[in-house]
Amino acid sequence: MADSVPPPSSDIVPNYWDYLALDRLLCLQNGVDADDRDLVSDELLFIIVHQTYELWFKMILRELREAVSLVGSGPLKEAKVPYVVHHLRRVGQILRLAVEQFHIVETLTPQDFLGFREKLTPASGFQSFQMRELEIILGLQASQRETYGKTDALEHIRELAAKSPAGALAWERLSNAQAAAARGGTIRDVLYEWLYRAPIDGSFPDSAHDETVVAAFLARYEAALKAHHKRQIDRLVSTGLTAAKEVEKRFEKSFLQAKRFLAAEDLTAESFPEGTDLEAERARRRRSRAGLLYIESNRDLPLLAFPRLLIDTIVEVEEQLVLFRTRHARMVERVIGRRVGTGGSSGVDYLDRTTRHRIFGDLWSVRTLLLPKELVPPVADPQRYDFVGFQP
Ligand code: HEM
Repeated sequence: MADSVPPPSSDIVPNYWDYLALDRLLCLQNGVDADDRDLVSDELLFIIVHQTYELWFKMILRELREAVSLVGSGPLKEAKVPYVVHHLRRVGQILRLAVEQFHIVETLTPQDFLGFREKLTPASGFQSFQMRELEIILGLQASQRETYGKTDALEHIRELAAKSPAGALAWERLSNAQAAAARGGTIRDVLYEWLYRAPIDGSFPDSAHDETVVAAFLARYEAALKAHHKRQIDRLVSTGLTAAKEVEKRFEKSFLQAKRFLAAEDLTAESFPEGTDLEAERARRRRSRAGLLYIESNRDLPLLAFPRLLIDTIVEVEEQLVLFRTRHARMVERVIGRRVGTGGSSGVDYLDRTTRHRIFGDLWSVRTLLLPKELVPPVADPQRYDFVGFQP
């Protein structure tokens, strides 16, 4: 017991270096060598940059968990929406910084990197279990996970876990994250569920005649969308630059895609675990997408302003995540070209494939359907969406 660290006492005045555990923190940059003084500055940079990213991932995970726990096991209560927005905005800002940090990595020249790169093999950012946790808690679907060779990232980490001291921690964290996700505890699940309950022309899912109200809203919206398409076709054709037939075909296709999206016909049995009732899932998503369209189209209604901000914040988070992936891929291309990664993937090709997926696909897709304000079907009884307490 003689060497153990004394417990904190009330007479100990905190100081900067103990509070931040700098004695330990600054001794963790040696990689596979005994001392970081044995490393060239490029390798020290490489380690510090990765550790910094992992610290930011730690912070992001905390914010995402806070956001999910605010919702608890039940539905998202409107009063909590501003707090969820608060946590997610911070995530967006951290990711924005993470994207910027790749400039520092690019001070590594390709040749300097080759000087120590082989020491790492087969270690790779592919094994960043915090990045995987982040994807899971946001709601990345299993079908959206890119594989390389015979394996995907989760399987890869599971296989490696038993072979390293930190592996047990990595696998435990991922298993817990997957279990929580399976119980519906992802940002995506929570968001779609909340959108499902959005009031459409004052009607909620459990209101009498909700289906009729929602169907009427969608019918009016589709008619307005058709009119908007017609206006654009006429304008394009009148310029004489595009053949009428070609333009009409393109808009017709876009209109059919919009209808398919609103009818949730793009959801297939493969997107769900075996035994799921596909028709029930489609019905839920139809209402959730109608709610999303309603909020996005009527953001000037006071009660819909915060919901729209939540949607916008989530789009910002995902945009930054996609930019992170894209920026990382370009940095990798600049430093190692198109060679095989230390983790054994095809490198840049693999990384570029990961940029295609959208976790919050509905939030992105709905953008194609939005209308200029003057064409949006009028809201039935808009006073219902006012702040009642502020009525004159
Ligand atoms: C010179 C610097 C870097 C190079 C050459 C590089 C290269 C690569 C390559 C080739 C992969 C694909 C997997 C493989 O085969 O290894 C990868 C994956 C990854 N790297 Fe980097 N990387 C670098 C720096 C970073 C930094 C600073 C981060 C910050 C955390 C990072 C995070 C990741 C992540 C999260 C993945 C997994 C991507 C996915 O599977 O979705 N990398 N990296």
